[in-house]
Amino acid sequence: MSTNPHILVVFGSTRQGRRGEVVANWLMDRLALRTDATYELVDLRDVSLPFFDSPDSPVYGHIAPEAEQWAAQVEQADGFIFVTPEYNHGYSAVLKNAIDHLYSQWAHKPAAIVSYGGFAAGYRAAEQLRQVLIELKMVPIREQMGVSLVPNWVPSISDASDSPSGAFLNRSFNGMMTELLWWATTLIPARERDRLSQD
Ligand SMILES: Cc1cc2nc3c(=O)[nH]c(=O)nc-3n(C[C@H](O)[C@H](O)[C@H](O)COP(=O)(O)O)c2cc1C
Repeated sequence: MSTNPHILVVFGSTRQGRRGEVVANWLMDRLALRTDATYELVDLRDVSLPFFDSPDSPVYGHIAPEAEQWAAQVEQADGFIFVTPEYNHGYSAVLKNAIDHLYSQWAHKPAAIVSYGGFAAGYRAAEQLRQVLIELKMVPIREQMGVSLVPNWVPSISDASDSPSGAFLNRSFNGMMTELLWWATTLIPARERDRLSQD
């Protein structure tokens, strides 16, 4: 049994002209330097799910045919980093839709949140997302990152790493990854034990 976690980075903006790509790319560049897990970016533009309208809840195991590939991708992951914009103090509808299509595939797995937005760096969206992740039996970790897209506002991913805000982002990133991987590694054998006991 491999204990090297597989982490899915779910990028939650599909808006035309979206600005969050700089945040997702910044994150993936950093993750590419790491050997402690495998990291895969999922752009929800490429998942193209319909609006959730299933007569049966995924809680009971029903997955819409259009979501089967998405379900398999999430099932294979040991942890997640959600990269979300803040729209009207919430996270994106497209991300909520992608989450709602599944249930058991999320369970007993940790999730980190990288939010971005204006002056509040998307923190309000991140707090909202945490509540939903708990309902899915996930483990939203405490350590998180919030990035501002407002020019000359901090913390911004363009901040020099030796500036106070750049150092803050570095610490946030390192702390988030340590905690995410602690949970991802810890929960792999626990889920395996559950799987074996159901066979
Ligand atoms: C519909 C909408 C609502 C927004 N609401 C907020 C908000 O509540 N707080 C905030 O900081 N920024 C808000 N913004 C600004 C976004 O954070 C900014 O446009 C950001 O670039 C969105 O991410 P995206 O370009 O990757 O979609 C909003 C933008 C849109 C389009």
